[in-house]
Amino acid sequence: MKLIEKLKEFQEGQKALLATNFYNFETLKGIMEAAKEIQLPVILQLTKSSIQYMGLQNAVALARSAIEYYRVESWIHLDHADSYELIEQCLKAGLDSVMIDASEFPLEKNIEITRRVVKLAANYGANVEAELGYVAKLGQSTDKTGYTEPGDVDLFVNATGVNALAVAIGTAHGNYKEKPKLDFERLRKISQITDAFLVLHGSSGVPDDQIIKAVEFGVCKVNIATEIKNTFMYNIKKLVNQTDEIDLRKVFPPAIDLIKELIIKKLRLVSM
Ligand code: 13P
Ligand code: ZN
Repeated sequence: MKLIEKLKEFQEGQKALLATNFYNFETLKGIMEAAKEIQLPVILQLTKSSIQYMGLQNAVALARSAIEYYRVESWIHLDHADSYELIEQCLKAGLDSVMIDASEFPLEKNIEITRRVVKLAANYGANVEAELGYVAKLGQSTDKTGYTEPGDVDLFVNATGVNALAVAIGTAHGNYKEKPKLDFERLRKISQITDAFLVLHGSSGVPDDQIIKAVEFGVCKVNIATEIKNTFMYNIKKLVNQTDEIDLRKVFPPAIDLIKELIIKKLRLVSM
């Protein structure tokens, strides 16, 4: 099934697809083992820096072969692309879905950039996500967040033709200093205005009850990255310090198991 159809199905069922960023074979393995175990679909996300790290062809081949190996319903998505060129390379490499993030530009410019990407992606039948409002990036202060204006939503979706919309309703990427407090009234208004698939970014560290409520109020894609990356590295660090073992095939598995545990929990939270 195409990602757009699956998002529609989940939107109608008041559920969300979990979108997980993977960074290497080990994080991918943990994610896929989780999805396999509880038989739920999952989106695999790549960012520009993960593509730079793994190499585009390597990363796509790795994800595609894992999808086949684990027989999990899954799609590959480009997360937060900042250029038309990167998007074109990824579509040519066979990604199912792309995000153009022109959220730092004024509305008109965001529309212009996004609309051009939508046109390009149509040639590949790919799903397109864009960001309206501003979700603070990794390492930025949450003061940088600019909430999505419900009054802009209709214009943005119609003028660009995007399928999916990342909304700024009080989340931020990375670790939170204070417990986030999502603006559900804003989310409710946005979901009444548009049929676009609403996407929650910055979901790491958002309390479970707020994730559940966001899904109830119309979010049908939940993005999670930092918790995956941190779970893996904090545990590798701990494990390496605790043992003299240097065989990576013995050191990595406990950290992979913890990713698996984390993803099972998140999948249950959003998709059941
Ligand atoms: P976190 O890193 O805060 O989980 O955000 C994930 C995300 O929005 C990826 O696009
Ligand atoms: Zn994001």
